[in-house]
Amino acid sequence: MGGIRHLSRRQLIRDTAGLFSIFGLRPATIGRAAELPSFDFGKGFVWGASTSAYQIEGAVSEDGRGPSIWDEFVTRPGAVPDAEAARIACDHYHRAREDVRLLERAGVNAYRFSVSWSRILPKGVGPVNRAGLDFYDRLIDQLAEAKIAPWLCLYHWDLPQALQDKGGWLNRDSMHWFAELAALLGRRLGDRVGHWIMLNEAAIHSLFGHGFGTHAPGLRSREAIIASLHHQNLAQGLGLQALRQENSVFRLGTVMCLEPVRPSSTSALDRAAAEIFDSFWNRASLDPLFHGSYPANLAAEFERIMGHDDLDTIRQPIDFLGVNYYGRIYVQVDQSSPVGVGFGPIPRDLPFTVMGWPIEPDGLYDQLVELRDRYGNPEVYITENGRSTGGNASKEEAVDDEDRIAYISAHLSYAHLAQRNGVDLRGYFVWSLLDAFEWNDGRKFRFGIVYVDWSTLARTPKKSLLWLHTLTDR
Ligand code: FCB
Repeated sequence: MGGIRHLSRRQLIRDTAGLFSIFGLRPATIGRAAELPSFDFGKGFVWGASTSAYQIEGAVSEDGRGPSIWDEFVTRPGAVPDAEAARIACDHYHRAREDVRLLERAGVNAYRFSVSWSRILPKGVGPVNRAGLDFYDRLIDQLAEAKIAPWLCLYHWDLPQALQDKGGWLNRDSMHWFAELAALLGRRLGDRVGHWIMLNEAAIHSLFGHGFGTHAPGLRSREAIIASLHHQNLAQGLGLQALRQENSVFRLGTVMCLEPVRPSSTSALDRAAAEIFDSFWNRASLDPLFHGSYPANLAAEFERIMGHDDLDTIRQPIDFLGVNYYGRIYVQVDQSSPVGVGFGPIPRDLPFTVMGWPIEPDGLYDQLVELRDRYGNPEVYITENGRSTGGNASKEEAVDDEDRIAYISAHLSYAHLAQRNGVDLRGYFVWSLLDAFEWNDGRKFRFGIVYVDWSTLARTPKKSLLWLHTLTDR
């Protein structure tokens, strides 16, 4: 395979089809995008990189931080491959300045990160840990110096353990705990943070953390999925209200993992399984926010725990929607799953990553068009997209990541096609800035545009970081 070094910037941007052949993507993946001349999104497009607190910060018991549900979860035998890796992560807490320099090298103008709730409020509510808040304060100042806009996500799956001890997201009070956090940060950081994201992927947190038990807090029931999702939806509603009240010029949004769900086979049972799973994965987050209702096939279960005005609380105006997209989801009937549905085989002709996730850039197009047609064409940012490569690759192999460039190019091509077809797409954030702690997979996979050496934690920009810079305006 040829190197991108030999291509001029113009060729890189213009010759999308050329890129596909250079990076060896099979024609099956290219489809319509191969005919596209470019993915030049024009001026004003937001180019960013994403991370999350627990996956990069480390320093889990420093400067007064309280434990989160992930700190507890990783100590359970077999929960993650290496609990120590979780506690150290990328040591971003001590290396934030260097990481901001890497963002500058990537040429991005926005950085999406999340705060560790228990670093700021060790018990989840109550007294503020000054040192914890100062960490984010300094980070935001460093970003401002680098002219990179902070996109602050209030919650990326790491609930304070003290709140889990009170029932966590199964407790209806959780919406008030979250609204308190939102108001506090709006007050303390709102002079420099313009973009606020309420939640990251509430549905995934509910399914994996409260249903399948493979993520913290490790619960396994259908009722827990429903309750945790409804309470996150309510928290999101109250968080939006609190921040709107704090400052009317804030740009407020939330992030969902939105991916078309398909049956693994043509059987009627699997088709029905895909429909219900689509409701859990996508629609039980989208529908109440945009339409004020739950999908019909789940409505009765939500109604059982619903308060009188809940749907009004959830249906709040947002300024933008963040879409995380990796590939379509293939499912089949599985009686052992709390939702009666499990992940199934992907079609045989599809390429897939080392994690087994299919590579389907055209699915991003379908998803974006669905938002245009069924959800009122909201202002959209792709807030996560990227691919894993193997965690055991040598540094040389990992840094030479043309497979990542090909993946991102293909998705940008379809995103551009969607934009040209009227989708209100305004930006793209790559997942992720750094190779990081990948939840229950630990350090088995690398998603970064920066290579992290797990023994020294030294950072090395990958080829994809340099390539990303060629796309941005900076
Ligand atoms: C998303 C998560 C993110 C990361 C990527 C690979 O679902 O939001 O933290 O793990 O998947």
